[in-house]
Amino acid sequence: MRYLTFALAKGRLAKKALAMLEQIGITCEEMKDEKTRKLIFVNEELKLKFFLAKAGDVPTYVEYGAADIGVVGRDTILEENRKLYEVLDLGFGKCRMCVCGPESAKELLQHHDMIRVASKYPNIAKDYFYNKKHQTVEIIKLNGSVELAPIVNLSEVIVDIVETGSTLRENGLQVLEEVCPLSARMVVNQVSMKMENERIMKIINDLKQVI
Ligand code: PRP
Repeated sequence: MRYLTFALAKGRLAKKALAMLEQIGITCEEMKDEKTRKLIFVNEELKLKFFLAKAGDVPTYVEYGAADIGVVGRDTILEENRKLYEVLDLGFGKCRMCVCGPESAKELLQHHDMIRVASKYPNIAKDYFYNKKHQTVEIIKLNGSVELAPIVNLSEVIVDIVETGSTLRENGLQVLEEVCPLSARMVVNQVSMKMENERIMKIINDLKQVI
């Protein structure tokens, strides 16, 4: 039997993903050690391997088959637009992709003015404004703390993840429009899905019982 390899998005999702996998008997003890510098973890009995990667890299590993299975947010899947199968909504990491800004930006959105949109997700922002809203905008790519952009007048609005909404509230911003709902997803390499169908379907069906 060959190894099945899991790529998990580092951070909040990885912890929950590992807890969920544990519920269906897929364990990886050495991965829980938060101090370890090891990059890859093996469960010899089950012939499984696991590694953590930056969220944006997970779809890349899965598309190329370096990982058979990935766990990553729908935001990253939409942004990366890789060739892979999205097989399961894992039901955690629920949040929304939204257009946010100060109240004063509302009318700029309604009047379809030319505005600047800052985001960590330029492809999602582009798709929303160009294909859904038919509004020409300037997209400014940022790498984090995106809520800063409208405050320091880098942009009129942002496209970003809203979970509790407290980051927005504490910075005088609000949700202006909802782009789409998000949550953690399981993705599978297209060739692996065929070659290892039985093993992968078992994992999917077991997970469905605990979601
Ligand atoms: C995310 C997101 C928002 C915040 C939303 O940022 O980009 O800033 O969480 O959460 P809330 O609605 O519960 O306040 P993250 O912490 O991932 O870091 P970042 O600023 O580097 O994007």
